Amino acid sequence: MNDVDPAEEIGEDDEETPPNMARVFDMYLGGSEHLEVDREFAVEVDAVLPGMGALCRGHRRFSAAVVDHWCAEGIDQFLELGSGLPTVDHVHTRARRVHPRARVAYVDRDRRTVAHARRLLAGEDGVAVLHADAGDAAAVLAAPEVRDVLDLARPVGVLAVGVLHYVHDDAAAVEAVRTYAAALAPGSGLAVSHLTSAARPDLHAWATMNHGGWSYAPRLRDPEDMAPWLDGFALVGPGWGSAPDWRADGTVPGADVTGSGLWGVVARRTSARG
Ligand SMILES: C[S@@+](CC[C@H](N)C(=O)[O-])C[C@H]1O[C@@H](n2cnc3c(N)ncnc32)[C@H](O)[C@@H]1O
Repeated sequence: MNDVDPAEEIGEDDEETPPNMARVFDMYLGGSEHLEVDREFAVEVDAVLPGMGALCRGHRRFSAAVVDHWCAEGIDQFLELGSGLPTVDHVHTRARRVHPRARVAYVDRDRRTVAHARRLLAGEDGVAVLHADAGDAAAVLAAPEVRDVLDLARPVGVLAVGVLHYVHDDAAAVEAVRTYAAALAPGSGLAVSHLTSAARPDLHAWATMNHGGWSYAPRLRDPEDMAPWLDGFALVGPGWGSAPDWRADGTVPGADVTGSGLWGVVARRTSARG
């Protein structure tokens, strides 16, 4: 993908500014990196899906639990796909509480988000933001922003939190997950959280609402569709289950808690073969 000019970040004064998913997400997490247009859009979202804030916080609860677990396992480098803005206890902040020199490559396909994230991270050593489509795993893994920050010969924690439902093609989503999982060194981890409509028909209203100019209608998948994604890999904790309820010690959430709207899994690469 073409690289991003810092001027592509749009400010409060720009009347053409459309709402931006990463800024809306930041707003729901209680951050300060959002504009009036995002807050207005959030009012429209809340009208069709009053639980949107809880979903955003659910994704964040999952990624926080996973990063804590990986840090405890000694993992000190991370690749976050569909990273949004690095605000509100994001991956590098959380990991650096345990590993002060933790290294993080963030990846986002939205140009404004990348420009904004790069400004927020200016001067931060060991952290980079790549402009790329997370679905193109080979390109992400080969990118200089990733190669310069991460040592792929050592374990890496890869987070795909709240992003694969924007990869609409099923085969492409599976292929991406497996390519990341297979390309990493033994000891690496891969975490996925994904919107699911099982037990949550209200999510259909969000998936089909007018997304204000973003091309971001999510593809809702059922747990049964995602279950084979990591066949052959060792699953950590409860395996697939309600993402906000994921715990490394294996508290098994059970199928009835798909009511969280978020389905997730954590896998570990145990050997050179999977
Ligand atoms: C829900 S937000 C941020 C979630 C973030 N992972 C977190 O936990 O805070 C999703 C982000 O994914 C980005 N995104 C959507 N589809 C993408 C894709 N195919 N590749 C890379 N980024 C994508 C959006 O631009 C947005 O910033």
